Amino acid sequence: MPNRLPLRTFTSPAWPRQEPTWREAKPALIEAVLKRATAKPSGNWFVVGASRDVVRGKASGRTVAGREVVLWRGPGGVLRAGPGACPHLGAPLCDGAVADGRLVCRWHGLALGGGRFGSWSPLPAHDDGVLVWVRLDDVGGEEPLPAPVLPARPPAGSLDAVATVVGRCEPEDVIANRLDPWHGAWFHPYSFANLRVLRTPTEEEDRFLVEVTFRVAGRLGVPVTAEFACPEPRTVVMRIVAGEGEGSVVETHATPLGSGRTAVVEAVVAQSDRRGFALARALAPLIRPVLRQAATRLWRDDLAYAERRYALRSKGAFPG
Ligand code: FES
Ligand SMILES: [Fe+2]
Repeated sequence: MPNRLPLRTFTSPAWPRQEPTWREAKPALIEAVLKRATAKPSGNWFVVGASRDVVRGKASGRTVAGREVVLWRGPGGVLRAGPGACPHLGAPLCDGAVADGRLVCRWHGLALGGGRFGSWSPLPAHDDGVLVWVRLDDVGGEEPLPAPVLPARPPAGSLDAVATVVGRCEPEDVIANRLDPWHGAWFHPYSFANLRVLRTPTEEEDRFLVEVTFRVAGRLGVPVTAEFACPEPRTVVMRIVAGEGEGSVVETHATPLGSGRTAVVEAVVAQSDRRGFALARALAPLIRPVLRQAATRLWRDDLAYAERRYALRSKGAFPG
C-alpha cells in the first residue's frame, strides 16, 4: 500500500481457531478494576449528549436518572440547563421556545433564564466542546465538583463524532463490558483481529494496554496499540498510544436514564498527522455518519453484553 494510507495487510486465524481469551479474562480481575473505577469521583456530573445537538434557538430535553432535564443556549451560545417541567403548571419545557437566550414556556409564556424562578432553579451545565453535561447533586450524592472530570483529548482541529444508544442495564454494566477487552476479536470479529492484552491494570497503573488490528475490509486493517482507562465512574476512555491516529480517543460514557435503562454516549475524537486527514476534516459532515454507524454497530453487540450482565445480576445469577 502507498505510505499515505494507514492500511496494512494482515493475517489472522479463522474465527474458531483464534486463541481463546477466557483464561486471561478473569472475572475477579475485571470486577476489581470496575470497583476502582466506580469509586472515583464524578462530582455528580452526567453526560447528556453531543454538544452540537444543543443548537441556538431550540430547547432540547433529556431524562437523566429519572429527572426531566431541559438544555438550551443562552446569550452568546452559553449552555443552560434546568428541570424540564415549567414551574407554573408543569408544561414540558423541552417543547419550549428560545427567545433572546431565554427559554419561553409555550403554555403561558413564562420566560426562564439563568436565574431561579419559584421552585425552579437552573442546573449547573458544562459544554466541553464535544459533549454537554449536567450536574445533579441529589442524584450523584457526591461532593460536587465545579466541572466534570474530563480525559485528555487531541487538540483542536481533530474530528469528532458522537453516537448514542440506549439499553436495559445500569451504567456499571456498560463500564464492565469495556473493562473486558478480551472479548474484542471473539465477539466483534467484523471490527477487530489479532487482539492481545499486553498489560492489565494495577492499583499503581490503572489501565489496560491492548494491541489490536481494526479490520477495514478483508485482509486490510489498521494495527494500533490502545490503552483503556476510567477517568471517572461512568466513563471509559480508549486512547490510541501507538499506530495510526495516535492520541485519538474513544470515550464511552454511561448515563442512567432511570428504571433500569442506560444511555451509552460514545464520542470519537480522532486525529492523524497524515495529509489525508486535513481532507477528512473538510469532509467531516460526510464522514461523521459513517463513524457514527460503525460505533452504533459495535454498540449493538456490546449493549447485548451489558444487558445480559444486568439481567443475570438482577437475578443474582451473575457468575463473576
Ligand atoms: S405552564 Fe409554563 S407558563 Fe404556564
Ligand atoms: Fe465490545
